[in-house]
Amino acid sequence: MSATDHKRIVAVIGAGTMGAGIAQVAAAYGHQVLLYDVAPDAARAAKAGLSQRLDSRVARAKMTADEANALLDRIRPVADLADLAGAGLVIEAIVEDLAIKQTVFAELEKTVADDAILATNTSSISVTSIARALAAPERMVGMHFFNPAPVMKLVEVVSGRATAPEVAQAVFDLAGAWGKVAVRAKSTPGFIVNRVARPFYAEALRLFEEQVASPATLDALMTDGGGFRMGPFALMDLIGHDVNYAVSQSVFDAFYQDPRFRPSLAQRELVNAGHLGRKSGRGFYDYAKDTSAPTP
Ligand code: NAI
Repeated sequence: MSATDHKRIVAVIGAGTMGAGIAQVAAAYGHQVLLYDVAPDAARAAKAGLSQRLDSRVARAKMTADEANALLDRIRPVADLADLAGAGLVIEAIVEDLAIKQTVFAELEKTVADDAILATNTSSISVTSIARALAAPERMVGMHFFNPAPVMKLVEVVSGRATAPEVAQAVFDLAGAWGKVAVRAKSTPGFIVNRVARPFYAEALRLFEEQVASPATLDALMTDGGGFRMGPFALMDLIGHDVNYAVSQSVFDAFYQDPRFRPSLAQRELVNAGHLGRKSGRGFYDYAKDTSAPTP
């Protein structure tokens, strides 16, 4: 079975923002997808959310009802990590925390076949470090999608020190088969996009903290004046402040606390308050009240 074979079963661990989107991408290509989340019912809820989004695509004649149903039928929420045994490729999209990712992969490795590829969607954690938890670290690779995964074309294929070239190549080919534009990256802090994007968020947050302008004004300046598709505050709300803050923290630490990458106290307060952005209904914008909040 080749890497791009749609008969390969794909497992996705973590049914949050990214996991749900990645499951959709894999199922759209024709894979059977197993979706697992540690939170009871999260995988089922993710499938229900996807069903609603597909309904709206059907209503807008972007796909047929049969296509939507077939795609949904290929996604199977499962209740246990052991249920992923048959997967040929596992993509992990759980919380951005090295120790937790290592624990999950060490457990997973005992379950899946020896030739299964283990991929992480981490935004910023060293793939080399995550792979260290494995007996066979050469089968681990970064497969970094962007949010929303079904829409954004780019996938960074990240090789850690131990990643086997054929594993990176297989994931590179697969991303291409899924309609993505794959780019090779090395396991350096933030890889490519998240490193380039750090100052975009950090300077915007500093301007906000210095009360130079409001998030809405700064976002409007960057979209209307700068030609960006989204301003930094709307984008951080979409990404999730817990995730975005964790990425900043991880890049900052990985560069030996280089002040260029210092995380924002204002963003940490949002995380402390549980104002995580769109997924919690409130971040820099209030999505429950404010119908004019920017959309992607
Ligand atoms: P999220 O918070 O929306 O979802 C994470 C999910 O993982 C939750 O449903 C949670 O219950 C589950 N989970 C946590 N620990 C688990 C465990 N031990 N086993 C199984 N499931 C577990 O997070 P999101 O945004 O989907 O991010 C996930 C990963 O993707 C992170 O590594 C993040 O850095 C990365 N990422 C995030 C992007 C974004 O824009 N949000 C973009 C690209 C990558």
